Amino acid sequence: MTIPSFRPPVRTLMGPGPADVHPRVLAALARPTIGHLDPAFLAMMDELKELLRAAFLSDNLLTMPVSAPGSAGMETCFINLVEPGDKVVVCVNGLFGTRMVENVVRAGGQPVVVADPWGRAVDPNKLDETLRANPGAALVAFVQAETSTGVCSDAAALVEIAHRHGCLTIVDAVTSLGGSELRLDAWQVDACYSGSQKCLSCTPGLAPVSFNERALAKIKGRKTKVRSWFLDLNLVMGYWGSEQRRTYHHTAPVNALYGLHEALVMLEEEGLENAWARHRRNHLALRAGLEALGLELLVPEAERLPQLNAVRVPAGVDEALVRARLLQEYGLEIGAGLGELAGKVWRIGLLGYSSRPANILLCVAALGTLLSDLGHRAPTGEALDQVQMALAG
Ligand SMILES: Cc1ncc(COP(=O)(O)O)c(C=O)c1O
Repeated sequence: MTIPSFRPPVRTLMGPGPADVHPRVLAALARPTIGHLDPAFLAMMDELKELLRAAFLSDNLLTMPVSAPGSAGMETCFINLVEPGDKVVVCVNGLFGTRMVENVVRAGGQPVVVADPWGRAVDPNKLDETLRANPGAALVAFVQAETSTGVCSDAAALVEIAHRHGCLTIVDAVTSLGGSELRLDAWQVDACYSGSQKCLSCTPGLAPVSFNERALAKIKGRKTKVRSWFLDLNLVMGYWGSEQRRTYHHTAPVNALYGLHEALVMLEEEGLENAWARHRRNHLALRAGLEALGLELLVPEAERLPQLNAVRVPAGVDEALVRARLLQEYGLEIGAGLGELAGKVWRIGLLGYSSRPANILLCVAALGTLLSDLGHRAPTGEALDQVQMALAG
C-alpha cells in the first residue's frame, strides 16, 4: 500500500470543472450517514427538490438529482424521451453536442445534426431551416453553455423555434445552472439536465434534472420500454416522487445529497440573480487581466460564457508545459483545449466557488509570471492593476 490514507494536495480549481467546493459543502458531506429511507432523509430530499426548482426557476414536479454525474443527466433525458425511430435535431457546436448525437443513436433515434463552428453559438436560423426540412422531427437538443469552447447559446430563442415546429426540447445546462441566466418555465424548456460540480460549488457526481408536463406525457405515453433500467424515470419516480410511500429503487448517495442540499441553500442565500451577476463581474475582471497580458479570448464577446474562458495559446508557447507548471508551482489547475481546439486554447473556469477575486488574482499573476519566464512579453503588474480596477467596478 502506497497511500495509507489519501490526502489530496492543495489545489485551486480553475479548469472546466470540478470547481472549488465550498467549505460548507465539504463540512456537510462529513456528517453521519443515515438510512436513505429514514424520515429525516426523506424530508431533506423533499426540500432538495424545492431548492432545485428554485435554481431552475421552474415549478416542474419532476425535478430531482440523478445519482450519477452530468453525463447520466444527459442520458436520462435522451433514454426517456427518445423512442426508437424518433427524429431528433441536435445542434452541435462543441464536444458535448457530439455526445448528444451519440445518445440519440444509442436510444434508437435518428439524429439530424445542425453544425456550427466550435467557438461560436448555435445559429437559430440554421435550426429553423433544419426543422423546416424535417417536418416529422420529435425533439430538438442543444447545449446552452458549451464547456468545451466557452460559448453561450441563446436558449430562449432555440426553444421557441423548436416549439414553433412542434418539437420538445432537451437543454444541457451543466455549466449554466447557477452561473448564468436559465429560466426553465419562462422559456418553456421541456427537459433539462445539469451537474453538481460546476456553478453549484458542490462535489462531482450528481445530475440535477427537470422535466415539464409535456415531457412527462411523452415519457408516460412511450410505446416501448425505456432501454435503461437505472435511468427509467417511471421507476426512479417511485423513490424521488411525492407519494407518501417511497419505494426502494437504488441506494441514494446519502452524503453527496447532504452536500448538494448545502450548496443549494448557499445559492438561495446568495440569490440566483446575484450569483449570475457575480459570474459576469468576475469574468470581466479576469478578461481585463488576460487582455493586459496580451492574451486573446477565442469567442466573440456577445457569445461568451462568463464562467468558462477559452484563451488562445500565444504562438510559440508550449501550452501543456504552462499547465503543468501552473499545477506544480502554484497548485493551480486550468483546462486544456478539447477536440479540434486541443493545443490551441486554455480553458479557464470561474465556476461557482471558484468564481472569486482571489482566484482571478492568482491566475493572472501566475500565468503572467510563467509566460515572462518562458520569454513571452507579459506585463504582470499592469495586468493585476487591470484586474483590481475591474473588480473595483
Ligand atoms: C456541457 C456539459 N455537458 C455534460 C457534461 C458531462 O458531465 P459529467 O462530466 O459530470 O458527466 C459536462 C462536463 O463537463 C459538460 O460540461
